[in-house]
Amino acid sequence: VDVTKEHRTGYHFQPLKHWINDPNGPMYFNGYYHLFYQYNPKGAVWGNIVWAHSVSKDLINWKKVEHAIYPSKPFDEYGCWSGSATVLPGNKPVILYTGIVDDKQTQVQNYAVPADVSDPYLRVWIKPDNNPLIVADNEVNKTAFRDPTTAWLGKDGEWRITIGGRRFDTGMSFLYKSKDFMRWTKVQHPLHSTDGTGNWECPDFFPVQVNGKMGLDTSATGPDVKYVFKVSLDVTRYEYYTIGTYNSEEDKYIPDKDMVDGWNGLRLDYGNFYASKSFFDPSKNRRILWGWANESDTTDNDVEKGWAGIQLIPRTMVLDPNGKQLLQWPIEELETLRKNKVELSNQELNKGAKVEIKGITAAQADVDVTFSFDNLDKAEPFDPSWDRYNAQKLCSQKGSTVEGGLGPFGLLTLASENLEEYTPVFFRVFKDQEKHLVLLCSDASRSTLKDGKSSMKDGKDAYRPSFAGFVDVELKDKKLSLRSLIDNSVVETFGAGGKTCITSRVYPTLAIYDKAHLYAFNNGTETVRIEKLNAWSMSKPVQMNH
Ligand code: FRU
Repeated sequence: VDVTKEHRTGYHFQPLKHWINDPNGPMYFNGYYHLFYQYNPKGAVWGNIVWAHSVSKDLINWKKVEHAIYPSKPFDEYGCWSGSATVLPGNKPVILYTGIVDDKQTQVQNYAVPADVSDPYLRVWIKPDNNPLIVADNEVNKTAFRDPTTAWLGKDGEWRITIGGRRFDTGMSFLYKSKDFMRWTKVQHPLHSTDGTGNWECPDFFPVQVNGKMGLDTSATGPDVKYVFKVSLDVTRYEYYTIGTYNSEEDKYIPDKDMVDGWNGLRLDYGNFYASKSFFDPSKNRRILWGWANESDTTDNDVEKGWAGIQLIPRTMVLDPNGKQLLQWPIEELETLRKNKVELSNQELNKGAKVEIKGITAAQADVDVTFSFDNLDKAEPFDPSWDRYNAQKLCSQKGSTVEGGLGPFGLLTLASENLEEYTPVFFRVFKDQEKHLVLLCSDASRSTLKDGKSSMKDGKDAYRPSFAGFVDVELKDKKLSLRSLIDNSVVETFGAGGKTCITSRVYPTLAIYDKAHLYAFNNGTETVRIEKLNAWSMSKPVQMNH
């Protein structure tokens, strides 16, 4: 087997070789989607960062064009870090990004504009000489001052952006205002800050419709609009978000009262997912989220493979009708890659059942399943001493083979024939006083026979955590659904219609290509039913970065 190829994804966004990290400046412009991303043109580890650039008509087939932004001027000589695009009135795109100006990682904010807006691919970007636009003032830590957002326009006609950073241990998103997009002034108070969360990277701030499925332009306002504020936590390497209100007169974001604003907050994804960024797609009136998944393999293996990092499948985001969280779902264009549909319905899964889903390429598949059950009585009691914010720990203790009452049930993805290797994605239902608690797990601990087992990401060892999150669902209809996008070394799962999402990166040695299997299973005493299961083989996009 060719180690450079066996774990490459088939339908995820990934360049032919080398390192990638954050998605940057996603936008839709004149019929094309643009995706820029942090890229090392020289190797499979982080460094030498430029903005690589690909264009697409459908978010599935991509054409690589030349690097859009790369170190070349005093204001970005040491690196071109993350940032965002804004399409200004008159249909004028502009990118804001962080430039590194010295070997101490001093950060400034720059802009770039297309050399020729009539070029459909916007291949060439110019960094005008009045850069940098923003440098850190005395109150700002200049080595933690980065990742400007898409700008939004206030009622006063002034543009706003927010930039990630910290003051001591307080995570902070600075707020800047400008009338002309060129001269920016810092607003006294940050847009938002939270004690004890450490440095904030890649903030994202955007409006969502209340009781609606449409996405909103970043500058949209109105009575039926709530706001989402998301950050990437440098210290823990995961993200959290809150939902709240934005007072545009006072320029303050205020999370709703019942939101957890800190380490234990809601997560867009409870797995390997970082530095995400959203944009408004005016062609389909939706808000789309891009997220980056790093490798979970050893750095040595990354170097041997010659590549590291993928962009996850873009997801639409809307406010859950309950107003308390977001719902995410893979973009509909992904469905064009589906083929060889297989269906199952009304299939009982008794305790210990394991049913193979045959007839698809199980290493590269899309599976959508609804489980149902007759009653909740057998749900295990939730021990009050368990840490409700540590779903991952619970999943590592109560894995897919640990018998339960209602659950564990779900899918065994990327499984070898005799289950030497498998990545289970499953539910387990607990009874907690009057309520039920639903746990969703995506457990990489048995995903590979390779050694290097570790539950910590330290950059050297392989990382095989039992990722998990709780699912805020009523269970009135006694159904739980899940959809998993399986793609050789990645499993992206959307629980209960996108309420809880989890991404795992895994490196099977046996369960590869046509040796990979997919099963549905139940290890709970309560019988569950596959009410409906649809699964498809997924083809490769015709064009992907060649
Ligand atoms: C997040 C991040 C950003 C920074 C970029 C550098 O992954 O650290 O804060 O701009 O990556 O590549």
